Amino acid sequence: MIEKGVEIAPAEGKLGILLVGLGAVSTTLVAGVEAVKRGISQPVGALTQMGTIRLGKRTENRSPKISDFVPLASLDDVVFGAWDIFHDSAYEAAMNAGVLDKDLINQLSEPLSSLKPMPAVFEQNYVKRITGENVKTGKNKMDLAEQLIADIAKFKSDNNCSRLVMVWCASTEIYIEESAIHQTVESFEKAMYDSDPMIAPSMIYAYAAIKSGVPFANGAPNLTVDIPALTALAEQHRVAICGKDFKTGQTLMKTILAPGLKSRMLGLDGWYSTNILGNRDGEVLDDPENFKSKEVSKLSVLEHIFQPEVYPDLYGDFSHVVKINYYPPRGDNKEGWDNIDIFGWLGYKMQIKVNFLCRDSILAAPLALDLALFMDLAQRAGMRGVQEWLSFYFKAPQTAPGLYPEHDIFIQLMKLKNTLRHMMGEELITHLGLEYYD
Ligand SMILES: NC(=O)c1ccc[n+]([C@@H]2O[C@H](COP(=O)([O-])OP(=O)(O)OC[C@H]3O[C@@H](n4cnc5c(N)ncnc54)[C@H](O)[C@@H]3O)[C@@H](O)[C@H]2O)c1
Repeated sequence: MIEKGVEIAPAEGKLGILLVGLGAVSTTLVAGVEAVKRGISQPVGALTQMGTIRLGKRTENRSPKISDFVPLASLDDVVFGAWDIFHDSAYEAAMNAGVLDKDLINQLSEPLSSLKPMPAVFEQNYVKRITGENVKTGKNKMDLAEQLIADIAKFKSDNNCSRLVMVWCASTEIYIEESAIHQTVESFEKAMYDSDPMIAPSMIYAYAAIKSGVPFANGAPNLTVDIPALTALAEQHRVAICGKDFKTGQTLMKTILAPGLKSRMLGLDGWYSTNILGNRDGEVLDDPENFKSKEVSKLSVLEHIFQPEVYPDLYGDFSHVVKINYYPPRGDNKEGWDNIDIFGWLGYKMQIKVNFLCRDSILAAPLALDLALFMDLAQRAGMRGVQEWLSFYFKAPQTAPGLYPEHDIFIQLMKLKNTLRHMMGEELITHLGLEYYD
């Protein structure tokens, strides 16, 4: 709970953004922020940088930039740190990722070359397709968490940061379900000492972040912080957490289109989605166990938006298929195909075809930036535990236990902006508008 118009600590001093994984998304984020700081580019796609927020009545003409309305960290105060299983600096990793033009990367070679990853906590069983040398060893998983906690403290003091946030931008781990050891802080910590195989590396990072008072956002579909033990730990330590899985590409399109179809009460027979993708993420997801995490996160979206139980005649029996095909020539430039079979008045059938030639990391990097800045804001505003108002950014938003997630992107955006209004003591906007006709 957060009270209306709470006292928010100012964004003074440096904000360290700790990235788990220094691959395509992370390097595109770091390069982008450095390019924006140097006036080379605009922060397109980042709500925190480009978005505005309407305040008060439509007749008041008050629509400040979000960054002028809430006290966010300035990009000039941001410093990046990272962990990765490879030794490559952000410069080398950006060159390998092949997302950005070499010319642009070379213009930013100084800040990118100086970002070198700390040794990672990694377990081959969780990510089958890649192996790296820059990996920590320890006597058990708790020992590994303590090494991360030491990394976090050292980064903070070396870089003179006043605050930190952590964003998981590392490979998607294999699919696991919540089990007994994930239920309480005690069972979780015991399992860490026992090096239980059900403790994923991402959980060790999340544990280290929460113990260090650092907000944690999960950009991948792994279970990670979406377990009772870590949500309880976040509450205890008054730390903000959120996830899962950046909402980009095909799922972004789904959550834009599906609410529109439903708003007109058009029926759905089926939605077939396939992707071709050739980056390292695609390679990792080529393994069935890793793909399973993604599939679960991608599939839940339509069920929740269409509410088949409320509209059995329209959505009671639709088929939803999602596939990802690893196809190296495409690199990070993914191609998403959607075939949507809908029906209208008197059951007449229609089809919609979407062919989205998107750039995965170009879509994801601004989300990672927004999440880092909003999580820092939430933490300064005393908001703790699951930050559902940030579900706008996720394919599988984390919620309070028993609550279904809101997937409709327009409702998510309204929720996000109303949360900002609430934080700042402004009236919420309901769009009722009757007052204009009194
Ligand atoms: N790009 C998008 O549109 C998008 C959208 C949603 C989710 N994601 C997720 O974001 C994550 C990053 O995507 P990407 O395209 O940058 O992938 P990537 O493969 O380019 O980068 C991931 C990096 O994480 C590193 N890594 C793996 N396990 C690690 C560990 N335990 N500790 C530290 N580093 C580790 C890898 O070595 C690699 O460098 C993936 O899980 C992906 O599924 C991406």
